[in-house]
Amino acid sequence: MKLLAAAFSTFLALLVSAQGHFNDVTLDIINVDLAPDGFTRSIVSANGTFPGPLIRATKGDTLRVTVNNKLDFDGIFFDANNSYNEGTPFVTTCPFGPNVSYTYVLPLANQTGTYWYHSQLSMQYADGLRGPLIIYDPEDPQADLYDVDDESTIWFISDWWHNSTVPMLASYQATQIIPVSDSGLFNGAGRYNSGPQTEYAVSKVTTGKRYRMRLINASARSDFTVSIDNHTMTVIGTDGVATVPYTVNVIDMLAGQRYDVVLTADQPVGNYWINTILGGGNPARNLNLNVTLGRGILRYEGADAAEPTAPMTLGPNGVNAIPLKEWELMPLVPIPAPPFDMELTFVTSITSKKTQWNINNISYLSPEVPTLLKILDGASSDADFNQTENTFVLPVNKIIQVTFPSSEEDELHPFHLHGNNFWVIKSNGSDTVNEVNPIRRDVVGAGAGGTTLRFSTDKAGPWFFFWHMSAGLASVMAVGPDETRAVVHSTGKWDDLCDAYNALPAELQ
Ligand SMILES: *[C@@H]1O[C@H](CO)[C@@H](O)[C@H](O)[C@H]1NC(C)=O
Ligand SMILES: *[C@@H]1O[C@H](CO)[C@@H](O)[C@H](O)[C@H]1NC(C)=O
Ligand SMILES: *[C@@H]1O[C@H](CO)[C@@H](O)[C@H](O)[C@H]1NC(C)=O
Ligand SMILES: *[C@@H]1O[C@H](CO)[C@@H](O)[C@H](O)[C@H]1NC(C)=O
Ligand SMILES: *[C@@H]1O[C@H](CO)[C@@H](O)[C@H](O)[C@H]1NC(C)=O
Ligand SMILES: *[C@@H]1O[C@H](CO)[C@@H](O)[C@H](O)[C@H]1NC(C)=O
Ligand SMILES: *[C@@H]1O[C@H](CO)[C@@H](O)[C@H](O)[C@H]1NC(C)=O
Ligand SMILES: *[C@@H]1O[C@H](CO)[C@@H](O)[C@H](O)[C@H]1NC(C)=O
Ligand SMILES: *[C@@H]1O[C@H](CO)[C@@H](O)[C@H](O)[C@H]1NC(C)=O
Ligand SMILES: *[C@@H]1O[C@H](CO)[C@@H](O)[C@H](O)[C@H]1NC(C)=O
Ligand SMILES: *[C@@H]1O[C@H](CO)[C@@H](O)[C@H](O)[C@H]1NC(C)=O
Repeated sequence: MKLLAAAFSTFLALLVSAQGHFNDVTLDIINVDLAPDGFTRSIVSANGTFPGPLIRATKGDTLRVTVNNKLDFDGIFFDANNSYNEGTPFVTTCPFGPNVSYTYVLPLANQTGTYWYHSQLSMQYADGLRGPLIIYDPEDPQADLYDVDDESTIWFISDWWHNSTVPMLASYQATQIIPVSDSGLFNGAGRYNSGPQTEYAVSKVTTGKRYRMRLINASARSDFTVSIDNHTMTVIGTDGVATVPYTVNVIDMLAGQRYDVVLTADQPVGNYWINTILGGGNPARNLNLNVTLGRGILRYEGADAAEPTAPMTLGPNGVNAIPLKEWELMPLVPIPAPPFDMELTFVTSITSKKTQWNINNISYLSPEVPTLLKILDGASSDADFNQTENTFVLPVNKIIQVTFPSSEEDELHPFHLHGNNFWVIKSNGSDTVNEVNPIRRDVVGAGAGGTTLRFSTDKAGPWFFFWHMSAGLASVMAVGPDETRAVVHSTGKWDDLCDAYNALPAELQ
């Protein structure tokens, strides 16, 4: 299992410099039957729940996450003819098979904020293997802005499918229609059209208190528009980066994005709808999906244990909406974007058959040997990788600018860079160019209205740059092969994983 953002960014560094307090966490990966929206299905889960259990860490900890793969293996792992291995495995590691345990050692250093973990295989990720990971900061410079920040203030928002990804992928390959989810879940509960009246998840507040709500869009595909009836939200964190307080009443979140917001319980005691409205795909393609039904309940202490009496809406619109605009987000600690040394232009496109996405006409295919192992074996230039690995070898300590030109035919893809924050110089949806105090984040929308970002190659290693579910839409930034070889002394564990994986019977690979 790969830990998004937090984990991977420190993964390589920590192999050499584990330090601070060790925080040991165990996750058992098991199959269970759950019915988060009232429809019972088998899911791949961390510890048998959805979302998976909170991984709680403190700034400066070294997190040691032991993942025990206890999956039964009836088709769950690695059908060789499926393309779901396009996800993150094979960049830094081999996937691991049944009965294998692996301990990730993650020095967190000064990183803080809201993250999540999910399976390294996109298939299991959509099938339920996702959960929150929060790194608390005992010396949070924004601590005076809120009173409560604990397990009860995590809002985990995700799309949900009744079918497992195996038939969905087969159907996608046959029809070229990207599956549309059956429901949207708020903290693991939701409803679908004509389904049972599942209890919505309740978020409890007390009049007068201020809550640091940690919104996590843990979608596989869908984005969400989040609002709370009669309340505003003050954004103070963006993908783990402390943000100058910014008050809005509607937040659009792409898959993978996180916002920490302060919610003040300043309305009359009662029950209020939390609207978490899913977007993504044509609802006409899945009659189970009713986006209006994706929601939770904000309940004041003293209110009845009942649903709000207000009608279910999609949230503020028109003149009543104060939407979050990415280009208006400012980091609490401004770091100007340095001038760039190199520029990459990424034109995203889709094949006429609409099954494969391309970056500059190349569709990413997972290599047989993980990129990191190739680098440890001496790969040093673009030419050492197959074209379909879309791997860019970059020098260390440079500033790289990546430009996604605007394209009327394209849709917006949430791009995520492992291991690094980038400066968002120009957001989709605005012409504003900001090199002075741009927001830094690790997931950005790109590909429709034009997006420009910069990142520093101050960390050697192969970093995956990708969009989760779009087959082919990925590349690898292989930063400093020589420096990578110098800092990563193979512990033997990676090789063991690959040996174990290669030793699996073919039908399990
Ligand atoms: C997951 O379950 C295992 C076994 O019950 C337990 O030891 C572990 O603490 C749980 N992990 C978390 C993060 O709660
Ligand atoms: C995993 O362990 C279980 C219980 O020990 C065993 O029954 C099963 O055969 C093992 N699976 C593999 C693939 O080794
Ligand atoms: C975190 O630590 C690194 C290395 O010590 C330093 O370069 C960076 O500025 C620090 N970041 C913050 C937000 O303090
Ligand atoms: C799952 O997908 C298969 C293949 O498209 C379909 O036959 C089946 O009805 C689907 N099951 C559910 C529960 O949607
Ligand atoms: C994969 O191969 C198996 C048989 O080897 C076949 O039954 C199955 O339909 C194939 N799946 C896909 C998605 O092509
Ligand atoms: C989550 O991401 C999906 C896919 O990008 C997006 O459609 C949805 O609006 C996002 N949800 C939230 C709450 O941001
Ligand atoms: C919430 O806002 C709506 C629309 O502005 C208003 O009609 C309603 O009275 C408010 N509810 C409460 C409890 O204040
Ligand atoms: C979706 O749910 C809302 C709220 O229950 C309901 O009013 C609406 O009719 C539903 N839409 C469809 C297409 O059933
Ligand atoms: C992609 O291929 C098409 C057709 O060969 C060509 O016109 C276009 O310039 C190429 N785009 C890029 C970014 O290389
Ligand atoms: C290498 O790239 C070619 C296209 O350039 C592709 O046809 C082939 O499948 C790739 N091989 C591997 C092992 O990825
Ligand atoms: C992205 O930009 C395009 C073109 O300006 C615009 O139509 C679209 O609404 C924008 N998307 C978001 C989520 O801002």
